[in-house]
Amino acid sequence: TDRVELPHPANRLPVIGDVLGAPSDRLVQSAMDDARALGPIFTRKFFDTEVVFVSGADLVAELADEDRFAKHVGNSLVTIRGLTGDGLFTAFNDEPNWAKAHDILLPAFAMSSMRTYHPTMLAVARKLINSWDGHTGQSTVDVSGDMTKLTLDTIGLAGFGYDFGSFESEDTHPFVTALVRGLAFAQAKNRHVPGLDFLYRKGNEQFAADVAFLNGVVDEVIKERIASGDTSTDDLLGLMLNAPHPKSGETLDEVNIRNQVVTFLIAGHETTSGTLSFALHFLTKNPAVLARAQAEVDALWGDVEDPDPSFEDIGKLRYVRQILNETLRLWPTAAIFARQALRDTEIGGKYPVAKGEAMLVLTPMLHRDPVWGDNVESFDPERFSPERERERPVHAFKPFGTGERACIGRQFALHEATLLLGLLIHRFRFLDQDNYQLKVKETLTLKPEGLHLGLARRTSAD
Ligand code: HEM
Repeated sequence: TDRVELPHPANRLPVIGDVLGAPSDRLVQSAMDDARALGPIFTRKFFDTEVVFVSGADLVAELADEDRFAKHVGNSLVTIRGLTGDGLFTAFNDEPNWAKAHDILLPAFAMSSMRTYHPTMLAVARKLINSWDGHTGQSTVDVSGDMTKLTLDTIGLAGFGYDFGSFESEDTHPFVTALVRGLAFAQAKNRHVPGLDFLYRKGNEQFAADVAFLNGVVDEVIKERIASGDTSTDDLLGLMLNAPHPKSGETLDEVNIRNQVVTFLIAGHETTSGTLSFALHFLTKNPAVLARAQAEVDALWGDVEDPDPSFEDIGKLRYVRQILNETLRLWPTAAIFARQALRDTEIGGKYPVAKGEAMLVLTPMLHRDPVWGDNVESFDPERFSPERERERPVHAFKPFGTGERACIGRQFALHEATLLLGLLIHRFRFLDQDNYQLKVKETLTLKPEGLHLGLARRTSAD
């Protein structure tokens, strides 16, 4: 079959294509606008490169078919390889280190491992709560900033026994500064105009310095662990250093371990912190939802001043979990994932896809497909009640990607986020003093920009 002409933005220009309609700080949101105008599949052209965006639930279900499609490591991930190399997130499907590391690390993400991380997650949650206690009735808190401190410290401690100590300092940790700047440069690189390398010399130098700094910190963490003589395998670093592959008996090499550590620090914190920040935003704007969530945590922890949530408690916070799911529906913080055809095929019965050809799944619009009803913009955690979940097509909800390359840290993120959110709504009232209007900031991930909330301690009357 011949390629069916796919819709594209109306104001496409010669040579540069649709670049002007897709500013780099609104790539996702401008694609969402295009999807609203053009439908469940469309293209955008950036100079010579044509990119296909897919968001229809039936089409995405086909892209999720692992017999015909697999993860695609495209330009945007290839540039991130400058930081993470063959780490899990950026490894090519056929790179041997992907399967090797995946098999070795999988036990670290089993439900039983969450039990091991629970005390660490709780300890870090208490640091945030402590800091927020100091703000009650005083100044507002920078929600995204504090959530980033929490998630970074959690993955650092739970994964590698390394304490970033983010709440002990006002300033952003230099590791985070280098990471964020490095990621931003890697992403911007995709839009560098070919042949104008001299323009980017300074940026390239800074990037090299940032990578060297990140690797230095990580190598130090690894060295300390080895020097300590600790050969346990109950965190990510322990598994990587001390657990041989279940079949081959090999361990990961040093460079790969470093790539995995940087990968987990990137993948393991921004996405979760953005999710928590969006969730608090939605809770302040939806008092009925908040009240129901408060009733749920109160039923568990009552009037206890400083509850001591058990591992099992987190599984009981079903409605809090529904809130997180609904948050991830509206703003899946890793908003795009790429698929490539394993052979010549077609989707939707009419769109041919050649072997190797890539398509981007635009998750926020998949999550607004008509299968979600006709009020898709409203925040309604009831969508994730067990009954409603059963009615929905299985591939309509993909905040963690799909298939064997889906997010390995999903349980980790949800346990951490449910625990913290539960504790926060149990303890605080949130004061939306500035009547915050959502503005989504795009980096590698999405987060609410400039969300500041006032805080008050709840009394038994609220
Ligand atoms: C992969 C989302 C939290 C580690 C992915 C992918 C998505 C995603 C969409 C697939 C990317 C692709 O197909 O290219 C999220 C979201 C999170 C979250 C929304 C939080 C709410 C975490 C955490 C960790 C983590 C906490 C680690 C502790 C990873 C890794 C991969 C991955 C290592 C690559 C897996 C592989 O290809 O083998 N994540 N993630 N993520 N995520 Fe997450």
